[in-house]
Amino acid sequence: MLILNPEQRNVYIGGTSILLFGQWLTSLEFVIDGAGMISGIYRRLRGDKSFAIPALGKYQVLVSSEKQIRELGQSSEEVRSFHAAMEQRIKHKYTLSGFEHNDVDPNNDVPRRVLKVLLRMNLPTVQRGLEPLIRDSLAQGLTGKDADGWSRTSGFTLYKHLIARINNHVLLGSELASNPRFEDAVNRYLQDAVVTMELYHHLPSILVPLVAPAMMRWSGAMHFIADSLSAEIEKRVIENQKASHNASSRYDCIQWVMEASKTPAQRTVLRTTQRMFGILFASAHQMSMARVYAMFDLCLHLEYIEHLRKEIEQARSLSDTEDHFNNLPLLDSFLRESARINALDALTIQRLALSPYTFADGTHVPAGNLVAVPQAAVLNPAPRSAQRIF
Ligand code: HEM
Repeated sequence: MLILNPEQRNVYIGGTSILLFGQWLTSLEFVIDGAGMISGIYRRLRGDKSFAIPALGKYQVLVSSEKQIRELGQSSEEVRSFHAAMEQRIKHKYTLSGFEHNDVDPNNDVPRRVLKVLLRMNLPTVQRGLEPLIRDSLAQGLTGKDADGWSRTSGFTLYKHLIARINNHVLLGSELASNPRFEDAVNRYLQDAVVTMELYHHLPSILVPLVAPAMMRWSGAMHFIADSLSAEIEKRVIENQKASHNASSRYDCIQWVMEASKTPAQRTVLRTTQRMFGILFASAHQMSMARVYAMFDLCLHLEYIEHLRKEIEQARSLSDTEDHFNNLPLLDSFLRESARINALDALTIQRLALSPYTFADGTHVPAGNLVAVPQAAVLNPAPRSAQRIF
């Protein structure tokens, strides 16, 4: 699956070597410092040219011009597939409790309706319930004050736990979320899944079906969560059938996934459980990283705190019928700029070419290769010390 004649194909080949051992080294180097490696090549090429990094048996082709980004974002799932790229990267079957993107929900209607409609519609109600949880989590994370009243903590750990608790409540409901054993299992599961998905890339493919399930089984966290989720979903199905419980009084994603699932295959307890794993995994990492970077940026720019606080107070004083989230232009700009400077992933719009594809500018991608936008390099081409923000 090599890209032949890279010069003719308008693609610069980066990385150690195109020979198999060189590809293995490059692929390992990518795990250790993928973002640094991509930024280095992007800077060397001054962002003018598409480039490719060899991985085992394939290439990651990185495109960055505005036209290419539009072309990639608008391409159909049948030609350049998001789900096939994620399947290669995450191996859902092992890391998401057997979840598979298939004809049960070919267009992703269930998560789309849950996240883009039902969650957004219910945000004001959900948000009110979260305030005590956020206060409590911050108080728990900031114990052991010194003589001047300061607590010492790792920002990342604080936010990882805070976001995990918020996500558990919003996604899985307060009953499961307030069980400490369940909370520990979710934290452990998210760690197991990331380690497994990174490691399996470096295993011979014949070993993956043996090693990946064993790694996910080792701590028991994924199986404990699957059992707890299935029991909760079964309980709700029975309640709904008996109509003994007013289902609409529940404000969580399990409820909305059950509502949004229309076909018998979408509505099984197993599929609902696996769908919840998908949403849980997708929501976990980016949110805590984005929040911790925003907090660091606030610490670097204390002058913005007062302005942001005023704006938030004004928005909170609006009546319940007004949209609080659409009235925060300063906060919105602050978070966007913080996300630009601290890109959360080296790559975005990751797609797997299912058939050969040539971009309008001549960049050619043979079938089987990954295509993506090197967002960290594009958003932030200068080293951090050379930047001025805001
Ligand atoms: C700072 C926060 C977040 C960032 C930066 C982020 C970023 C992304 C990106 C870049 C993608 C891939 C999109 C593509 O290539 O077309 C994605 C997909 C996805 N995200 Fe997020 N995300 C965030 C938060 C969340 C949260 C909170 C949830 C769930 C509650 C979520 C659920 C999903 C799902 C389900 C997908 C897959 C969509 C599909 O299957 O079509 N994300 N996210």
